[in-house]
Amino acid sequence: MQEHAPPLTFPALVTALRAAGCVFAEDEAELLLASAADPAGLAAMLERRAAGLPLEHVVGWAEFCGLRIEVDPGVFVPRRRTEFLVRQAVALASGRAVVVDLCCGTGALGRALASSLPEAELHAADVEPAAVRCARRNVGGRGTVYEGDLFTPLPRSLRGRVDVLLANVPYVPTEDVELLPAEARIHEPRVALDGGGDGLDVLRRVVAEADDWLAPGGSLLVETSERQAARARETVGSGGLTARVVVSEELYATVVIGTRPR
Ligand SMILES: C[S@@+](CC[C@H](N)C(=O)[O-])C[C@H]1O[C@@H](n2cnc3c(N)ncnc32)[C@H](O)[C@@H]1O
Repeated sequence: MQEHAPPLTFPALVTALRAAGCVFAEDEAELLLASAADPAGLAAMLERRAAGLPLEHVVGWAEFCGLRIEVDPGVFVPRRRTEFLVRQAVALASGRAVVVDLCCGTGALGRALASSLPEAELHAADVEPAAVRCARRNVGGRGTVYEGDLFTPLPRSLRGRVDVLLANVPYVPTEDVELLPAEARIHEPRVALDGGGDGLDVLRRVVAEADDWLAPGGSLLVETSERQAARARETVGSGGLTARVVVSEELYATVVIGTRPR
């Protein structure tokens, strides 16, 4: 008869996670215990986490704006700091807003905004097929998710009608990608991270078209780093939008908002 290893206890999990370098070992142990269907599943999860997979890829979801967002392997994990961008968007948007979530990844931003604005019309897009599949599940019946490069897959009928354009584009300068924690560097796709030489290449491409897609008075919201904020603001302003920077000390988040004049 085959011998089974004894089920992992909470203290054993914490010890193993700590040995693997997990700083919040107790929190992670609780999450793994709550997520695993059975002892074998728990052991498999521990093995994957100890091998360095992001916790969200191991359990299959992340909490974002109070929602449970599914996160598939190879898809960018939505960061808690990006909740600040969503809060800014909620403050700007009216009930029936037309919302586009460009570079949507899991679709977390658009999904969260749509939860705050039940009557909003939501469109999302990403170039990565894995992200698009994941976003389709997260967005569900609340909107439509398209696959393709930036604005290319969006219906032409949205031109000049977008009230809120969310675009958490990749913004890590190419030479800094190697400095990212292994969880991001190895397990998130490079296309989700690498923003080109100065980190602003994808932003420049978004800004070049944003004015055509935004409704008068509509706003583009992008996340950036503290270091890039001044140049990101200049870039957004160069596209004919009125640009400003807003900062959350609490979430360590920096967002540039560009508004199309009425
Ligand atoms: C930083 S991640 C943000 C994902 C999601 N918005 C979030 O905050 O969780 C950037 C996303 O942009 C997508 N992306 C990169 N270049 C793109 C392009 N040219 N067109 C569409 N999507 C792109 C990547 O696949 C990735 O999902």
